[in-house]
Amino acid sequence: MQPDHFPSLPALIASQKPSEARLCFSPAHVRRRVAEFQAGFPGCTAWAVKANPHPVVLRAIIDAGIREFDVASRQEIELVRAALPAAVLHFNNPVKAPEDIAHALAAGVRSFALDCREELEKIAALAAGAGVPARNILLNVRFKDAAARGTDNYNFHEKFGAAPDEASHLLHRAKERGFRAGLTFHPGSQNRNPAAYEEMMRLAHTIAGRALGPDMAGLDLLNVGGGFPCRYPGGGEQPLAHYFDAVRRGAALFPCPVSCEPGRALVADSISLLARINLRRSGDSRLYINDGIYGSFMELPFVDFRPPARAYSPGGTLLPEEAVQLFHIWGATCDSLDKIPAPVRLPASIRTGSYIEFGLMGAYTNATATHFNGIAPPRLVTVDRLAAWEGGHGKRRSAS
Ligand SMILES: Cc1ncc(COP(=O)(O)O)c(C=O)c1O
Repeated sequence: MQPDHFPSLPALIASQKPSEARLCFSPAHVRRRVAEFQAGFPGCTAWAVKANPHPVVLRAIIDAGIREFDVASRQEIELVRAALPAAVLHFNNPVKAPEDIAHALAAGVRSFALDCREELEKIAALAAGAGVPARNILLNVRFKDAAARGTDNYNFHEKFGAAPDEASHLLHRAKERGFRAGLTFHPGSQNRNPAAYEEMMRLAHTIAGRALGPDMAGLDLLNVGGGFPCRYPGGGEQPLAHYFDAVRRGAALFPCPVSCEPGRALVADSISLLARINLRRSGDSRLYINDGIYGSFMELPFVDFRPPARAYSPGGTLLPEEAVQLFHIWGATCDSLDKIPAPVRLPASIRTGSYIEFGLMGAYTNATATHFNGIAPPRLVTVDRLAAWEGGHGKRRSAS
C-alpha cells in the first residue's frame, strides 16, 4: 500500500519519486477559503460539487463547515448523501432527466433549478406523483441577461437561462402553483468582474418586481451562483472581499435571503499537480510530461488562465529560477492535441526526471479527467502544506 499523506510536496518527491502524476491536496487551504466565504459572504455558502467530487475533497469541505451543496446529477446526490446524510441539496442543473428528478425527490432533495415552463411542469408532475407538496419544494428560476457577460471563459448564458420576461412568468407561475420560489443566475466561471453580481441582482430585482409586485412578497431566495475567481499570481483578479461587497450592495434590494454556490473558489488553490518530465531531448524546449489535457489539464484549452509552475530536481530540490526559458509542454498521450496551450517559463536546467508543480489545480481537474490512451487520472494524496505562489503584478508568471 502506497502512503497517501506527506508533509509537503518536496517530501513526496524525495520519498516516493513518483512515476505517475499526483494531485497534492491540502485540506488547510479548503478550510481557509470556506472561512473566508463564511465570514464575508452575506448569506449561505453552498458548494458546487462538480468542481471536485473526490471523496477526500468533499470530506474536507464538510469538515470545514459547508452543509449545502449544488448537485448536478443523481451521482452527485448519492455522493453527498453518503458523506453527509443531512446535507441540504440543490439540484441546480436546469435540465434534468425525469428519472433523476424522481430519484432526487426520493432522496429528500427539495430544491431544483429550471429555466423554462416545460421543466417546471415536469417537476410539478413528478412531485405530485411522489406525494411531495408543492409548498415543500423550492423552484429556482435561472435567468440571464443576454447582453451581459461576467467572464470570457464560460458563457453560460448561451446554454441556460430564461430571458427576463420569461423569468418573471416562471416565477409567477411557480408561486401560482404553490411552490416556494427563488431566482438564480451564474455570471460565468472565474469571473473577474465583481460588478457583474450587482448588475445581475438589479436585473433579478426587476424580474421579481414584475412577477410579485414591488415588495417582492413570496420571493424565497436569491442564489447568485458560482463564478467567484481564484487568484493567479500576477493575474489581476480582485480579492473576494470586493465580490462580497458587490453582493452585499445587491442584497440590500431584497427582502429574502441570498445564497451562493461557488465551485472553483473553494478548492482551486488547495491542490498542486505534481508531474514528472518523462523526456527532454538534449537542448530542446519541448518537455513530455506524465499528465496532459486528457487528464488534469482538460480545462486549459477553453480558458484564458494558466496554472503557475515551478520545478524540482529528481530528488525533490526546488530548482533556482535564475536562468529560465519558455518550454512547450506535451501531454502523456499519443495525441498531437495533447499540449498545454501556452509555453511555460521554467528553469533552463530542467531535464528528464525533473518534476513540475502546477498550482491552483483543485477545480475541474480530476473532475473531468479521462482514461484516454489507458492512462489513469492522477491519484490524490494529501499534504500538510503547499508552498505559496509569489507573483508580480500584471503578467502571469507561468505563460509567455
Ligand atoms: C449551476 C452551477 N452552480 C455553480 C457552479 C460553480 O461554478 P464555479 O466553479 O465557477 O464557481 C456551476 C458550474 O458549472 C454551475 O453550473
